[in-house]
Amino acid sequence: MINCQRTLVLIKPDGVHRGLIGEIISRLENRGLKLVAMEFRHITKEFAEEHYAAHKGKPFFNGLVKYITAAPLVAMVWEGSDAIKAVRQTVGATNPTEAAPGTIRHDLSILTSRNLIHASDSVESAEAEIKHWFKEEDIFPWERDHEEWITGLN
Ligand SMILES: Nc1ncnc2c1ncn2[C@@H]1O[C@H](COP(=O)(O)OP(=O)(O)OP(=O)(O)O)[C@@H](O)[C@H]1O
Ligand SMILES: [Mg+2]
Repeated sequence: MINCQRTLVLIKPDGVHRGLIGEIISRLENRGLKLVAMEFRHITKEFAEEHYAAHKGKPFFNGLVKYITAAPLVAMVWEGSDAIKAVRQTVGATNPTEAAPGTIRHDLSILTSRNLIHASDSVESAEAEIKHWFKEEDIFPWERDHEEWITGLN
């Protein structure tokens, strides 16, 4: 597989409450990405503050931590060719009213403060976030039978 990457994806508590776990996972599966780790988890304030450390001090920080810790979420690692960019594209822009039609945020949400999903934004953040959320032994690489039809090169 060319440029194989892993990226951290969270279905935030609004996605869980709204019953959108299956819909969001389907969109990533349909894109041709491969799930290699998944956990249903209710995170602490401290864990959330660490995850969103880059936003510490911003006016929305406390509300963001409250939102992400308000209920359980689904944490996942997805793998694929250029997975970081591909997932961000399928997720859409941070503000759902600026997200392109066809993206998860456009199609399923309307406000930045309830934008359903998180996805790593760079190789460096993906690496750090996956380390923060998952132990190596909880990530399960596997071979897809039809890989050639998704990531084959000509
Ligand atoms: N102005 C804002 N008001 C309320 N919440 C915000 C605002 N800006 C960002 N957020 C929340 O903080 C999250 C992190 O912001 P960031 O700029 O990293 O966007 P993102 O990378 O698109 O989203 P994420 O990091 O969750 O994948 C956003 O997804 C959103 O839930
Ligand atoms: Mg971000």
